[in-house]
Amino acid sequence: MKLFADTADLTELKELKELGLVNGVTTNPQIISHSGKNLLKILGSIVDLLPNLPVVGMVVATDTKTMIKEARMINSIGPNMIIKLPATIEATKAIPVLAEENIKVCSTCIVTAAQAVLAAKAGAAYTALFTGQLDIIGYKGVDTLRDIVNIYGHFNLKTQVIAASVKKPQDIVDYALVGAHIITIPYQVFMDAFSRALPLTQYFVDTFYRDWEKAGCYITDETISLGKKDEEDLNKILA
Ligand code: E4P
Repeated sequence: MKLFADTADLTELKELKELGLVNGVTTNPQIISHSGKNLLKILGSIVDLLPNLPVVGMVVATDTKTMIKEARMINSIGPNMIIKLPATIEATKAIPVLAEENIKVCSTCIVTAAQAVLAAKAGAAYTALFTGQLDIIGYKGVDTLRDIVNIYGHFNLKTQVIAASVKKPQDIVDYALVGAHIITIPYQVFMDAFSRALPLTQYFVDTFYRDWEKAGCYITDETISLGKKDEEDLNKILA
């Protein structure tokens, strides 16, 4: 299972990189709009920061021909680019054309398992199920995610499903439990997963340190070699 970062913000990506938590990056036009105006430049900066990781950029055209043109432009940024196309009929026509050119496509804004099956059969390398958004409109997104994982697994399809629109830390657990290949997570949810649980974790850490200090324990390189007293004690035991 891989964790992608659902953000184009370089400060957020730098921190997640430091934490060792980014296996890839997803963006969409809305996410890009929070970081600037020039799509190729923003995606280029992400690739500079994370040169060996998959980075997903989305086309904005609505007709097949222009989508293909934009997909080629985005793909030219680097060898690990993935092109997001919406799960529309026009966009699906672009998938086999791009797949033929070895351009990896992620079919996005998916809300049903049927859409995910069609996208995979058309040649999409990834499908992004809007799992969290399904919950918001009153469905159980995780059920659809499980169906997609099972169908892809049943037929050994190479397409990987990305559980997207993650809203809270528990979503990560629920999506991992049904076998999501990738979960793409906004920065804030990564941070919530740490910070919301932190007071209790901190309580245990404080307890450890309090007892350690009370007993006068210490840590130093010298503890590696036996002190005189330790040596005497050891000799008594061995005698
Ligand atoms: C995924 O690739 C999308 O960028 C993202 O998860 C969309 O979710 P949202 O619209 O609920 O934020």
